[in-house]
Amino acid sequence: EDAARTRLGGAKLIVVANREPYIHNLRNGAVELMRPAGGLTTALDPVMRACGGTWVAHGSGSADRLSSDARGRVRVPPDDPSYTLRRVWLTPEQENGYYYGFANSSLWPLCHQVYHRPTFDPAHWAAYQEVNDLFAAAVLEEARGGPALVFVQDYHFALLPRLLKRARPDLVVAQFWHIPWPNPETFRVCPWAGELLDGMLGNDLLGFHIQYHCNNFLESVDRTVESRICRERFSVTRGGRTTRVRPFPISVDPDLAAEHLAGDWEAPVAALRRKYNLGDRLLLLGVDRVDYTKGIPERLRAVARLLDLHPGLAGRFHLVQLGAPSRTSLPEYRALTDEIHALAADINERYGTPDWRPVVFVNEHAGPELIYPLYRAAAGCVVSSLHDGMNLVAKEFVTARDDEQGVLVLSEFTGAARELTDAVLVNPFDVDRLANGLLAALTMPPAERQRRMRRMRAQVADHNIYRWAGTMLSEASKLMDHGPRPAAP
Ligand code: F6P
Repeated sequence: EDAARTRLGGAKLIVVANREPYIHNLRNGAVELMRPAGGLTTALDPVMRACGGTWVAHGSGSADRLSSDARGRVRVPPDDPSYTLRRVWLTPEQENGYYYGFANSSLWPLCHQVYHRPTFDPAHWAAYQEVNDLFAAAVLEEARGGPALVFVQDYHFALLPRLLKRARPDLVVAQFWHIPWPNPETFRVCPWAGELLDGMLGNDLLGFHIQYHCNNFLESVDRTVESRICRERFSVTRGGRTTRVRPFPISVDPDLAAEHLAGDWEAPVAALRRKYNLGDRLLLLGVDRVDYTKGIPERLRAVARLLDLHPGLAGRFHLVQLGAPSRTSLPEYRALTDEIHALAADINERYGTPDWRPVVFVNEHAGPELIYPLYRAAAGCVVSSLHDGMNLVAKEFVTARDDEQGVLVLSEFTGAARELTDAVLVNPFDVDRLANGLLAALTMPPAERQRRMRRMRAQVADHNIYRWAGTMLSEASKLMDHGPRPAAP
């Protein structure tokens, strides 16, 4: 921690993210530790382990209170305590309005533009404001007594940067927006567009995955709020304060794969093959939270199309779709889960035989001890998001292929497609192209697989999560005011 503080000019590092990296749950009277699905926590935990500091998050587990002190603090990870997790407690009404409501029924569909209409409910907006206030209070408490760099994550906290700066103008505040930013025509339907932008312009530094999202953001600012935009320097000045807006493509820790593949990694794959009667057939793999942005029905329909076009492939492969249940309190997520179950059953009925089911939908939370071995064993990994900020499954898959084999079939509507140009790029709305992508994954000659995988591995090894965090934090820490502080009145 001291070394990290030195790198940050003596400031304390405080990360704010809705999701906590370690969840304590009660199961059968015992406390059980859970790691959430989803890219953000997987990406940031190694950074926090390396840097130390405090992660402020919503305490969501049934045994979270039991496992933390009176302030909601606990040192994590439990087996190697390296940083502090500070939990913020929300009432069910706050969680419903802020997380399920404004964050995931308004901002999530608004920013992803996947033809899923966002809803805007004033009660959700009120809860979102209230929870941003609550987090501001927790961060200000953690930041007491000295300089601090606050690193805010994601769309749950658009208002937080402004609140922090208003209370503590000396704090350096940086935010990374993990989802896309839509074009201004789409964004302007939000009834509170101006308030969101004003909140985000409290940041000293604001990061998106790709330049296109930065451009969309600047256009949205230009059309919505009073400000001066400098397009050459990608900055916005409002009320005498400047926010720099830059792309920082997020990534993964390449060493995690090696860790999870160190032992007998073939055993969990063999167990799964036995459980679902997969024999030794080729595997196409999907790994997603069950979310309507991920294009899972499109992927299944492409399997049917592939079997129509190439009946000879019947009985030769499976699509294993790991689908972690996600946001299931929202009706559209439950409806999607039902749709995927029904589609899988229908395809299996139409194309399958008593001992061969083309689609295996595993609607459970799977941990890295299963996911990495499956990445390593699969003929191909299929990422068919309709729109995705980055997509870290694509990058994780690449890190698992130390055999330089395996084909990545990747939607061109992901941020990852800009970097992993050696993937088989597909338009998930085009069923024939997606089916052809699956065919490529099953039939590509080993030499070509190797050529492509080698280049993708080099890209991810070089542009890893440490580089992402290092670049963003060092840009932010350059904005730290090292001069004498004004005397207190
Ligand atoms: O990518 C957006 C995001 O919110 C990530 O920050 C997170 O990893 C993922 O979606 C999972 O979402 P949730 O935290 O709502 O389960």
